[in-house]
Amino acid sequence: MNFDEVIDRHGTHSVKWDMMEKIYGVPADDGIAMWVADMDFRPPAAIQRALQGMLDHGIYGYYGDDASYRAAIGWWMQTRHGWSIEPEWIFTTHGLVNGTAMCVDTWTEPGDGVVLFTPVYHAFAKVIKANNRRVVECPMVIRDGRYEMDFDSYDAILDGSEKMVILCSPHNPGGRVWSRVELEQVADFAKRHDLVLVSDEIHHDLVMPGQTHTPMALIEGVSDRLVMMSATTKTFNIAGSHSGNVIIADEALRAQFGARMAGLGMSPNSFGLVMAEAAYSPEGAEWVDALCAYLDGNRQVFDEGVNAIPGLHSMKLESTYLAWVDFEGTGMSRDEFTRRVEETARIAANHGPTFGSGGENFLRFNLATPRSLVSEAVERLQAAFGDLQ
Ligand SMILES: Cc1ncc(COP(=O)(O)O)c(C=O)c1O
Repeated sequence: MNFDEVIDRHGTHSVKWDMMEKIYGVPADDGIAMWVADMDFRPPAAIQRALQGMLDHGIYGYYGDDASYRAAIGWWMQTRHGWSIEPEWIFTTHGLVNGTAMCVDTWTEPGDGVVLFTPVYHAFAKVIKANNRRVVECPMVIRDGRYEMDFDSYDAILDGSEKMVILCSPHNPGGRVWSRVELEQVADFAKRHDLVLVSDEIHHDLVMPGQTHTPMALIEGVSDRLVMMSATTKTFNIAGSHSGNVIIADEALRAQFGARMAGLGMSPNSFGLVMAEAAYSPEGAEWVDALCAYLDGNRQVFDEGVNAIPGLHSMKLESTYLAWVDFEGTGMSRDEFTRRVEETARIAANHGPTFGSGGENFLRFNLATPRSLVSEAVERLQAAFGDLQ
């Protein structure tokens, strides 16, 4: 567990590092990749051992008998999140972008509206549009420096053609850990408009010290319309395994989702299942605790350095390692502050508008990298905006 170790990822087919120059024009040799949400850390030794076991055996046939895999997921949800699930509630998809697409496909028709609280993780809108459904944006508001949902304004936005709402919990970007009251409001909203409620909780393990994530499944009276999504991939940095869990308590919803999975001939990849089972273990839990403490340290270094630059504001993260930085106070155009970050500071960060309305003046920086790189990024940003000091 040495999160300080700098591991060179160049030339490893890492989208984050090997596509940075092509996509952002940030030089591969000394640029800092702070965009795509994966981490520059090795996963826990338990995962490496499980993979090594597969390599040593050397036979990569079809996977069967998934009872221990399902039990590991159940154990994790119970011990880490106080949520009791049954093994048969679990579906395994090829990650949660795939899980989202499967939900859209199962419970909506072309032309239907799907509600998002924006700004939000960009792949939701991508998948909705690619399936010829409509994104219905319910913009969040910033109060006391953090995002809140504004239900007073949302009812008037909907026109009755909406069939689904997708919640990102905890929220990417902005890092909100939604309170129980806020989750109840989302549940009431879904009921009021008769929407299937998809709760993407992929960031649920990555909460800052002192914060507690509440699974939507613990909110009363919503299980008949609720689809929960979670994964080991974000938590343990194994996104390349493309594996995620769609967990559905309601029998009717489960039958519908299962039928769609069968219709598409979907079955999971053995590497993802083996890694997930190894991750959801006491050893994995210990690693996650250490990781969250480290990420909180990175967040402090980043926020302190960035918030010292007049006109820049990094939103205080309650969860995730994705810093959401507002450049509005610089008075610069989006092109200008982006140019300074990419050309002068040589940092690749996600562009705010990709996340929908409200993201216009923001860039998102991935802090899941050794602290020395976070410090280097802060120094480069301070120099790139040095004229504002
Ligand atoms: C909210 C959210 N959902 C899903 C994903 C990606 O999921 P997957 O890699 O399992 O497709 C991300 C990645 O950043 C995310 O932030």
